Amino acid sequence: MTTSRLEPIHNEALRLDESDPAPKRDAFELPHNDQGPLAYLTGNSLGPLPKQTRSELATELDDWSRLAVDAHFEATNPWYDAHLALAEPGARLVGARPHEVVWMNGLTVNLHLLLASFWRPEGKRTKILMDAPAFPSDTYAVKSHLRQRGFDPDEHLIVVNSGTEQATTAEAFEAAIKAAGDTLALGLIAGVNFLTGQVHPIARITKALHDVGALAGWDLAHAAGNIELKLHEDQVDFAAWCSYKYLNGGPGGLSGVFIHERHAQNTDRPRFGGWWGNDPSTRFKMHQIPEFHPVPTADAWQLSNPPILALAPLRSALALFDEVGMAKLRARSERLTGWLRKQLPAWVEVMTPADAQGAQLSLGVQQAEDVQKTLQREGVVCDVRKPDIIRAAPAPLYNTYEDAYRLVRALTLANDPGSIA
Ligand SMILES: Cc1ncc(COP(=O)(O)O)c(C=O)c1O
Repeated sequence: MTTSRLEPIHNEALRLDESDPAPKRDAFELPHNDQGPLAYLTGNSLGPLPKQTRSELATELDDWSRLAVDAHFEATNPWYDAHLALAEPGARLVGARPHEVVWMNGLTVNLHLLLASFWRPEGKRTKILMDAPAFPSDTYAVKSHLRQRGFDPDEHLIVVNSGTEQATTAEAFEAAIKAAGDTLALGLIAGVNFLTGQVHPIARITKALHDVGALAGWDLAHAAGNIELKLHEDQVDFAAWCSYKYLNGGPGGLSGVFIHERHAQNTDRPRFGGWWGNDPSTRFKMHQIPEFHPVPTADAWQLSNPPILALAPLRSALALFDEVGMAKLRARSERLTGWLRKQLPAWVEVMTPADAQGAQLSLGVQQAEDVQKTLQREGVVCDVRKPDIIRAAPAPLYNTYEDAYRLVRALTLANDPGSIA
């Protein structure tokens, strides 16, 4: 391949950036090096910094300095119920009602809290079903719950399509769910698989789980802010996701949790208690009412008072999604990732199924770490999942077609260093 063969692709990328621009590129501080901005295609791992986040954080520090404890009620964004103000944008993002969403803790912590409430083994209904390859933290969490209650994971954990890195069809899920039947208590499945980038059909798998009397829980770490979600309408029982990937909520940022109102309103469902999950009308009765009275919303799973410095970046991050709208964003994502897929060199094997792709494409390449070195030299940021997968995720809020083109060029160079002048 020569420069002249890539030139038309570059020109097309530049034309597309005119006609289909990234709607919020200017709202971010994008990573750069001495040569200029990097082609940052790793928002599926850690989203970049929204410019507005600096002032959101500064406001909290100023209010802390000026008001200290009085900031709970008198701050610019009163701290006492700061989490409530983020329930609405969170709900819009995942297709929920505001009282079904709460932001709290890290994702794995929340998976534990949700498993404690929703995995209730009884009689022969004990098993948990997951997709493969599941993110290790999810597997650790599930296995630790099984072991803690004396269930052997080898017997009570069903992993669909185990041992492969290939896409898992909806039919494979349905067959495994049907086969488990009334031994199945719960599914905990990724909305978008972290390794393959495959989007799973949430409504369909949720229905299959409900048909055998099991509950449907979803890990949406790679789905939130990536694909359109309709958790309430799809009858999902519960879900959790992190905010530091597509949502750009900052490193180690808060996790979002969805609990369908039919469960949130059932205050008999067991859950761990903490004062911020208590009914706000009696929260400050302190020692006078020692009994936990859960509020009948997702907030009931909240244990501690909200971490203000972690909530603040979410305000600016989620505002960007509201300004563009998830439907518009997903449409641009389909165009952008679809275009990238078509331009990739033929020697790259795309693992992500074309009919079930989100922003991320998982690329099977030999000697991935060598390829990664070329990408780094060319200012293209992707990540490697050993031994042979490179993940590239153009984020529709800020990535351009030229960013996608730079990946194509760098891959071309990696394969044949002499091919481009
Ligand atoms: C699918 C999935 N589950 C769980 C986690 C763990 O998240 P945390 O470190 O916030 O608990 C991640 C992190 O990237 C993830 O991608």
